[in-house]
Amino acid sequence: MSSLNLVEQSKHKHVGPTVRVLGVGSGSTVVYAAERLVELKRLNKLHPELLCVPTSFQSKQLIIDAGLRASDLDDLPELDPGSFASIDVTIDGADEVDAELNAIKGGGGAHLREKLVAAASKKLVLIADYRKDSEVLGEKWDKGVPVEVSPLAWSTIKRQLERFVPKSRVQGMTAEAVAAFEYNHPIAVLRQAVRKAGPVVTDNGNFILDVSMGKIYDPLAVEQLLKMVPGVIEVGIFSNMATEAWFGNEDGSITCRF
Ligand code: A5P
Repeated sequence: MSSLNLVEQSKHKHVGPTVRVLGVGSGSTVVYAAERLVELKRLNKLHPELLCVPTSFQSKQLIIDAGLRASDLDDLPELDPGSFASIDVTIDGADEVDAELNAIKGGGGAHLREKLVAAASKKLVLIADYRKDSEVLGEKWDKGVPVEVSPLAWSTIKRQLERFVPKSRVQGMTAEAVAAFEYNHPIAVLRQAVRKAGPVVTDNGNFILDVSMGKIYDPLAVEQLLKMVPGVIEVGIFSNMATEAWFGNEDGSITCRF
């Protein structure tokens, strides 16, 4: 399986004895990363006091099962004085990554904590298979942008997310971003749970609206606009956050983008 190769190679490069604090993402691809961490631990190739910062319930369990130490983001000091970063490297999956390393995340509903951890990391390394590698966000991922919202007013938030962008907010947006809103009327769907009646409830007690809007030519503008809607807690667009992405190809080779 190409994903395994991918993780094998990327971990050799990114996780070694010099990494003291590691962010651990969520999702099915990250499971391969956790397997590799177990192997590196067995080989004594990890920092002896490595701390792992989870991004979800699943991720914390992966860390514990790997025999590693989990830490809370807020318990960590800055790595360098005056720096905002407290994590050396975070390794996470993605639902889609564009040519500029912007990403859609949150297919597993963990993007709030994933973004908090990513924002506190010196490096964010995304690992995914080739089907998630695209030129423009929305080209391949057709399930919409995951948006974590307050359950208090999800239906009101849904209507606002589907509204046309007010002209006053369009200033500064590229023509393509405006077009994405004006011609691909966003449609927001409340994510439903599997094997339970009712909506998905996130690790943080919130709901998720999956907002479809076609191709996203200006991810930063779209991320900011969605985030401006009251009640939106976090948006699954990660603009300008990833420092590199590794894609496992069908033939077992790796494509890496910096
Ligand atoms: C979790 O909410 C997500 O952001 C995942 O990182 C993303 O959906 C990728 O998941 P898979 O590795 O399972 O495809």
